[in-house]
Parts: sequence; C-alpha cells; structure tokens
Amino acid sequence: MRIGITYNLSTEVATAEGIPSDRADEFDSLETVRNIEKGIIAAGHEPVRLGFGLDAIARLKRQPVDLVFNIAEGLYGRARESQMPAILDMMGIPYTFSDTLALSLALDKTMTKQVLMQHGINTPAFWSVDNPVQVETIIQSGTLKYPLFVKPSCEGSSMGINDNSRVACDDELRNQVGELLAAYPGSSILIEEFLPGREVTVGVIGNREPEVLGVMSFKLLNGTEKDFFYTPEIKHHWEKYIVPECPADLTADEYQKVRNLAVGVFKALHCRDCARIDMRFDANGEPSFMEINPLAGLAKGKSDIPVMAELMGLSYEDLIGRIIQAAVERIDAERPETTMVTEAQRATV
Ligand SMILES: Nc1ncnc2c1ncn2[C@@H]1O[C@H](COP(=O)(O)OP(=O)(O)OP(=O)(O)O)[C@@H](O)[C@H]1O
Ligand SMILES: [Mg+2]
Repeated sequence: MRIGITYNLSTEVATAEGIPSDRADEFDSLETVRNIEKGIIAAGHEPVRLGFGLDAIARLKRQPVDLVFNIAEGLYGRARESQMPAILDMMGIPYTFSDTLALSLALDKTMTKQVLMQHGINTPAFWSVDNPVQVETIIQSGTLKYPLFVKPSCEGSSMGINDNSRVACDDELRNQVGELLAAYPGSSILIEEFLPGREVTVGVIGNREPEVLGVMSFKLLNGTEKDFFYTPEIKHHWEKYIVPECPADLTADEYQKVRNLAVGVFKALHCRDCARIDMRFDANGEPSFMEINPLAGLAKGKSDIPVMAELMGLSYEDLIGRIIQAAVERIDAERPETTMVTEAQRATV
C-alpha cells in the first residue's frame, strides 16, 4: 500500500499566528516523521510525506494513497486535532487513529469527563471555569475538597501546569485560575480534586476488542511519589526525574482495574487503532481517569507509547506495523467488499 503521513512540525508553530509558543511541544519533529517512514517501509509499504492542510490536499490530489498515517495535531481551535481527519473523511481516504468526533471530544478534558461519567468511569469531581467570578461560586458551593488540581481544559503536554497547579486553599485556587486565564485567553480551566496515588499511563491498541499494549508507571529518582505530578520541565527532561516502569509494579487486582478502566474509556469514546489513557489512584485506592490521548506522541525513545512498547519488547517499527494492522483490519471490517490489502501484503504488516 501507499501510506501517506500527515503531520504538523514543531517548527510550524513559530510561523503560525495566534498559537501559544508552548504548543510546539505537541507538534512533531522531522525525526519522528522519518521514523514512522521506516516503520511503514518495514511493514512492507511505501510511505508518502503529505504534511498538513492545503499542502496535504494538493499532494493527495497529485499522488493518491491507500491509507493515511495521521499524526497531525492541527492548528486552531478546540477541534484542531480533527482538521486533517475531517479533510480525509471528505475526500474518502481512510486514516489511522480515531475519527473527528473522538479526537475533538478528547481534546476537551471537561467534556470527556462528562461523557465518561455517563459510562460509570471513575474520575475526580470537577468544575470548569472561564472567568474569575465562577471561582467564587465554586468556593461558596463547597463541593470540591482540597487539595485541587488546576489545568487548562483543552491543552496537552502539561501546558499550563507548574509547581502551583496543586492548590490547597481558596487563595491559591483564585491565583492559579487567574494565571491560567491570563496565559491562555479564551480557554476554559478545569479544576478537579487532586489524585494522591500512583500515576499510570496505559497504551491500548486495536478496535472492537482492543488489547492493552502496556501499563506504565515510574520510580522517582529523587523525592517521594506523594504529591508528585508532571510539569513541562519533567516531561521534557524525564530521564533526570523518573525511571519508567512497564509493566508497572501493581497487584493483580490493581492491574485488572487499571486495564478495565483504560479499555472502558477507549470503547466508550469509540477510539480507534491506538490511544493512551492517563490515570492515577484516588484516595480510596481506585484508579481514576485524568485524560485520554487518542493522538498520543510517537517520538521514538521519548513519548510514552514508544517507550512503553520498547519496554514490552516491541520495536518502534513493529509498533508502527501494529497500528497500521489495526487500521487495516478495521477498515476491511467496515468495507468487506473492497479489502484494502491482499493476503500476501497482510502477512507483512
Ligand atoms: N487531578 C489530578 N491529580 C493529580 N495530578 C494531576 C491531576 N490532573 C493532572 N495531573 C498531573 O498533571 C499531568 C498532566 O495532566 P494531564 O495528563 O491531564 O494533561 P496533559 O497535559 O494533556 O498531559 P499529556 O502530556 O499526557 O498530554 C498528569 O500527568 C499528572 O501528573
Ligand atoms: Mg496526560
């Protein structure tokens, strides 16, 4: 198959107007695109670089592809991750990972929690605000128990998270919300109860009956896990702070609950092919949902999914092959009359 790759490079952020500079962390490097190309070749296919937006459309018109490996984060708005998938849907071209609805929803942490609560998924009590007056309403309501955690509702890569994100009193809450509203104008801010237990991230791969790729946690190199949380500094230089551990050191019961939560979230949001679910244990020792990344980072040796795969004995190339295989099986199941690959090709993915 000819497999196109759609992506946004971190270097684009500098030239695109009105995008917070720390969003560059969300975008990809040329090295990641090259590594995905190697994975596509190793799986027996031909990679085609498409880039993003109008350029990608022009290239797709010149050079049709059978499938798109989509890692484009998109440029503007709350539904930005759906921009490339929406174009591909319009052009009738199949692509890897989740569809427009799941990608848009997952980018809004507050709305995702609302949907998941309908499915009985455990997640911290929360409020979302977009102005300081609403903070006073929350304080007066007394419905959230300190300590709380304050983060932008529609960003990733720990954007807007710093040493003051865990707040222990009304004044700290007012200050932190004020800072985020100033730093990310027009955004909504999620205030939720702080999860004091261990942090775990789970890779899920597949479709109807998805499999767990890995359940990853970490050991801290310094300090105790109590009150630890990821800031951008720790995400960037994690080797200085943590040692990833996959499979995580959990009891069989904890592992089962973590697995059920991750797969439950993946299915409830109708995710496709692969996604990463972040959770922590709550004060009752139950895993509790923080957020899902249906377009999880694929930087080799850096992002959680490739690191997790490596620790589980799956090479980067094989990981890309598994994602392509999941997409191909899904698309074949949706359109049985026009299977995408021959049996010989299938043997190579
Ligand atoms: N309710 C919470 N209680 C404790 N820590 C939290 C809570 N919410 C977020 N955190 C900490 O902040 C980090 C970033 O939060 P979260 O995963 O929700 O956002 P993100 O920036 O989108 O993450 P990613 O980089 O995975 O896309 C978490 O990994 C965790 O360490
Ligand atoms: Mg996260």
